[in-house]
Amino acid sequence: MAETTGADSQYLWMDGEITPYANATVHVLSHSLHYGGAVFEGLRAYSSKLGIGLFRPKDHFDRFLDSIRVMGYCIPYSSKDLTKASHELILQNEFKSCYVRPIAYINDTVRGLKLPETPKVHTAIAVWAWGKYMGNEGHLKGVKVKTSTFRRADISSSLPLAKISGAYVTSVLARREATLEGFDEAILLDPHGFVAEGSGENIFIVKNNEIITPSLGYILPGITRDSVIKIAKELGISIKEENITRNQLYVADEVFFTGTAVEVTPIREIDHHQIGNGLPGPITQKIKDLFFKCTQGEIEKFKNWVDFS
Ligand SMILES: Cc1ncc(COP(=O)(O)O)c(C=O)c1O
Repeated sequence: MAETTGADSQYLWMDGEITPYANATVHVLSHSLHYGGAVFEGLRAYSSKLGIGLFRPKDHFDRFLDSIRVMGYCIPYSSKDLTKASHELILQNEFKSCYVRPIAYINDTVRGLKLPETPKVHTAIAVWAWGKYMGNEGHLKGVKVKTSTFRRADISSSLPLAKISGAYVTSVLARREATLEGFDEAILLDPHGFVAEGSGENIFIVKNNEIITPSLGYILPGITRDSVIKIAKELGISIKEENITRNQLYVADEVFFTGTAVEVTPIREIDHHQIGNGLPGPITQKIKDLFFKCTQGEIEKFKNWVDFS
C-alpha cells in the first residue's frame, strides 16, 4: 500500500496561517478527538503541462462546507478562500502532485458531549505526496476485495452526505478486516443487503456494455463518481444508477472503484470470484484513460474541473 503519514510535507495551513508541520497540533482532550466530530475532505492536485491543477476544488470545498453545516459548525472561509489556501500550501511545500486534506475540528477540551453554544471551529489543510492508493500493481492490474461483515448504517441515523470523522469508524474496521484477511479493500452493503460502496470509494459494475452504480442514499455522493458518470455519457456508454446485488458483482464483466484517493481502480476479484477474465476490462480502461486526461485539463468539455491557481 502506498499510504504515507503526511510527514513529507513541511507546512500545513491552520486558521489562515501557513504553519510548520511540527506546530500543527491539537489538545489531547479536544472534543473532536473524543467524540469524532471533526469534518474532513480530500482532493488531489495534479501536475500537468498547464501547471499544478486542483481537481474539482469547488465541488470538494462546497461538500466540505455542507459537512460543516451538518455538524452545526460555522467557519469564516468560503470555497474560494480554501482553494486559494490549498494552492498556496502546495507551492510552499514545493509539491507538484499531491493529496489535499482539509479538516475542521473543535479543539475545546471536553467535559462531556455538550458543545459550547458557539464552539470555536478550527480549520486546517494538510498536503502530502500520495501515490497510487492501492499500489501501482493494484492500480494497473486490479485489486482483490471482499464483502465486509460491516454494513452502512440505517439512513435514520447515518449522514452519508457528510464526511464526519466519527462516521468513518465503520470504514476503518471494514478495511482492517479485509486487509487482515489478505484482501486489498472491503465492499460494504447497505442495511437492505444491496451493494453500497468501498470503505472510501464508490463502486461501478459493467454488464453487457452497460455501467451500473448504486443510487444515492447510503453512499457518499463521490465527486469522482460524478466525473465518471459524465465521462461515460461523453463516451456514449449507457450508465444507470440503481440497486446492485452481491450476485450482480460476481457475474459482472467488469467492476471498478472510484474516489479521490483510489482515482479509477479496477477490481479483479471479489470474495474469491474472478471478475471477467481477471484483468481490467475495456470499459474500465476507457473511463480511466479519459479520467486522467481530465485531471490534466486536456479535455475541453471538462476543462473547468481543473483549477490552476
Ligand atoms: C465513503 C466514501 N465513499 C466514496 C468516496 C469517493 O468520493 P470522492 O470521489 O468525492 O473522493 C469517498 C472519498 O471521499 C469516501 O470516503
